[in-house]
Amino acid sequence: MARILQFTLNGRARTDAVPDNVLLLDYLREIVGLTGTKTGCDGGECGACTVLVDDVPRLSCLTLAATAAGRRVDTIESLQRDGKLSAVQRGFHEKLGSQCGYCTPGYIMASAGLLRRNPQPSEAEIREALGSNICRCTGYVKIIEAVKHAAALCAQGLTP
Ligand code: FES
Ligand code: FES
Repeated sequence: MARILQFTLNGRARTDAVPDNVLLLDYLREIVGLTGTKTGCDGGECGACTVLVDDVPRLSCLTLAATAAGRRVDTIESLQRDGKLSAVQRGFHEKLGSQCGYCTPGYIMASAGLLRRNPQPSEAEIREALGSNICRCTGYVKIIEAVKHAAALCAQGLTP
């Protein structure tokens, strides 16, 4: 069975006929064509598929698209404004928080969700907020530094 899904995607109202059993991850990548959100484990264990729903990080591989009705969904594609990187994107770029990059969209969205709720988190709060994400390359130290740098950029007025 399909339903009409109305919600806000990356700041724009959107209406689609969506089968009840379609996952948000598959809807974003295969129906909308937003491939920045990555498929990793496809089972709720890696965080590569993280998006924000009403500013709260969600694993899109475990979320039915239909549950986005009436909500605000943001993907990695929403963060840059007029060609300029967001604070979190700059943090990962300038502090080398990304190597192969496959996990990076998920980390960036989880970090953006944290900084929207808590613009000046402690290191413990950063580690807790990123606890659902896995990276095989960086050893995590650079990722924590990237989020701290992003918080400093937010303090200068950049959006997360
Ligand atoms: S692909 Fe969703 S948690 Fe791994
Ligand atoms: S940068 Fe390669 S998995 Fe994280």
